[in-house]
Amino acid sequence: MTPDEFLRGLPKAELHVHIEGTLEPELLFEIAARNNVTTSYSSVDELRAAYEFKNLQEFLDIYYEGAGTLQTEQDFYDMTLAYLQRAAADGVRRAEIFFDPQTHTDRGIPFDVFLTGIHAATVTAERDLGVSAAPIMCFLRHLPAEAAMATLEASLAHRDKFIGVGLDSSEVGFPPEIFTDVFAKAQAEGLHLVAHAGEEGPPEYVWGALDVLDVERIDHGVRALEDATLIQRLVDEAVPLTICPLSNIRLGGFARMEEHTLPKMLGLGLKVTINSDDPAYFGGYVSENYIQTFEALNLSLDQMVTVARNSLESTFLPETEKRKLIGELHTYVTENRP
Ligand code: HPA
Ligand code: ZN
Repeated sequence: MTPDEFLRGLPKAELHVHIEGTLEPELLFEIAARNNVTTSYSSVDELRAAYEFKNLQEFLDIYYEGAGTLQTEQDFYDMTLAYLQRAAADGVRRAEIFFDPQTHTDRGIPFDVFLTGIHAATVTAERDLGVSAAPIMCFLRHLPAEAAMATLEASLAHRDKFIGVGLDSSEVGFPPEIFTDVFAKAQAEGLHLVAHAGEEGPPEYVWGALDVLDVERIDHGVRALEDATLIQRLVDEAVPLTICPLSNIRLGGFARMEEHTLPKMLGLGLKVTINSDDPAYFGGYVSENYIQTFEALNLSLDQMVTVARNSLESTFLPETEKRKLIGELHTYVTENRP
């Protein structure tokens, strides 16, 4: 088995993927056609050619336009199942999947439509693909806290179909503290808490996510390296960081994969995981992120196994299920390590 094959089959969890960011141009155009909606792009090739981003905002503008083609429960089901099929082929045993409700409710598409479609695909995947999957609802931080609170309240009728809440969209200028009350209410409802922080925003936003929102994982967190006290805190509390290497390159966080600070993070003892973020836009699913990171940064296979183990340990699964998956990882490594 080659190292690439070994990395692809490595039992892993994906903890940072936006379902709307898995919508491949081919499916996007198919869905747009059946819904009789148009986009600013006339073909799959023209759309793909537009995937050149200087920063997060340039990406978000095109990502929200793509998500605007989704209308029916079937659309959300098809998109989610397509992602889960790719995830299964990438060794993913557990996927905790972000969705952006406000991108849909603000277009008049109710929770009943998108969450039912997404959830139904997770049920199919669990039954047919051997992938356990659970949605996490993200609030758009560029919209007011009142809108996030209204979204949380509307979501509670579907409390059984998602496991937690997160915070995404444009980071700089929208610190976590804005959403203090929303996260407190979500916590009181027994939901898990995560937040994007330190992707483009400063280390202070990571502190805010931890101290004020009380999140259990930090999404991205690459800029935490600028603050030694913060690093110590993240290490001491073993706070998982959901790193998305290809996303960081595509959005300008690092010029080249060779410059990514992931090896430094591992060396510091941070609980690093590797994820795809928006794979349809950033050039690769989770295994591609493992492979490109491994090759460009001269990581060892032991380090990659540590990353996979970190991902399984950082899921919101019950302890017994985590142990089972970690056992599966050990068996896989023993039998297949090149
Ligand atoms: N950052 C913030 N918001 C997002 C992202 C991201 O990487 N992907 C989709 N929404
Ligand atoms: Zn993200």
